[in-house]
Amino acid sequence: MKHKEILVFGATGQIGRNLIRKLTKNNYKVTAVTRNIHTAGYILKTQANPGYLRVVEIKNFKTETLEDLIKNCSICINLVGILYEKKQNHFKTLHTDLPDLISLLANKFKIEKLIHLSALGVENATDSKYALSKFEGEKKILKNFKQSIILKPSIVYSVDDKFSTRFMTLLSRLPIMPIYYEGKTKFAPIHVTDLIEIILQIIEKQKQSLILECIGPETLTFKEIILKLLKSINKKRLLLPLPLPIAALTAKFLQLLPNPLLTEDQLNLLKYDNINSGINKTNFDLGILSKRKFEQEINKYSFNWRTGGQFSKLNNSEK
Ligand SMILES: NC(=O)c1ccc[n+]([C@@H]2O[C@H](COP(=O)([O-])OP(=O)(O)OC[C@H]3O[C@@H](n4cnc5c(N)ncnc54)[C@H](OP(=O)(O)O)[C@@H]3O)[C@@H](O)[C@H]2O)c1
Repeated sequence: MKHKEILVFGATGQIGRNLIRKLTKNNYKVTAVTRNIHTAGYILKTQANPGYLRVVEIKNFKTETLEDLIKNCSICINLVGILYEKKQNHFKTLHTDLPDLISLLANKFKIEKLIHLSALGVENATDSKYALSKFEGEKKILKNFKQSIILKPSIVYSVDDKFSTRFMTLLSRLPIMPIYYEGKTKFAPIHVTDLIEIILQIIEKQKQSLILECIGPETLTFKEIILKLLKSINKKRLLLPLPLPIAALTAKFLQLLPNPLLTEDQLNLLKYDNINSGINKTNFDLGILSKRKFEQEINKYSFNWRTGGQFSKLNNSEK
């Protein structure tokens, strides 16, 4: 029986909580790191059998704090990430400095594997602070711990995400949906279950040194994604292509909200296609096929946004 100790940073997020369930079911012992055990405890504790999960609260990412954790693990997985900056949460601190420190310590303690979640296409989006910080993080990791494994997913979706669920909320409330860059930006959405399978295969089979782009089975434009979400929640909405100066102005105001729907940085990022680059390998090249299709998967949870909820029927589009 395997008893490898896996340390997960950013464990409470969409990917983390699904990953913990898979890892512990496969006999790995997981230490999940969170900033707040009280908010995270109930989400995480239900993901594992007793004895397989330890939840650790840390208030800072100082060297001494991380040393104690990293020196006792065989495999470290870093899932910490943010979509926008607020107060103490800066892209550089979380996407560049933290991976820098984790990989230095991974090297110091000669751990077996470091798996880091970056994002697809960040090397191209030179006018996005998010992308720059993620790409810098990748460079630091490769410099400090050469055998690291960097995973670069396109959009990851599931009932736990901040993407499909958020857009379904917006689409169910707004009569008009703004579309940016004429909705032409391309994505290769990957379901969280498929991504978790990739991570498990990487843990079990891939020895070291890999940059892997993680993509789903389809390429969809932003407009196609919105249309599939609308179909799935059984609503019709006017899709309004916004000229860039107006989009930029709305982003300037929206980013002032506590939980912004769109920031100027995200608007910049949105103009770059989020599909495989052709430079790095993808999960398909490794024979790890992501099979779940966007429309079929969102139909499993979109009833929450339909009028009538779970008793609703599809096909009669509502207003
Ligand atoms: N979801 C996607 O579509 C997608 C696509 C490409 C790449 N990725 C990358 O994959 C990773 C995981 O994504 P996810 O969707 O699971 O993210 P998520 O749901 O937003 O969770 C991110 C995690 O980061 C931690 N975190 C957030 N702010 C933090 C801060 N200021 N200090 C320390 N920790 C903080 C949180 O941990 P606690 O609150 O427990 O401390 C949380 O568990 C991220 O690096 C993300 O950039 C995601």
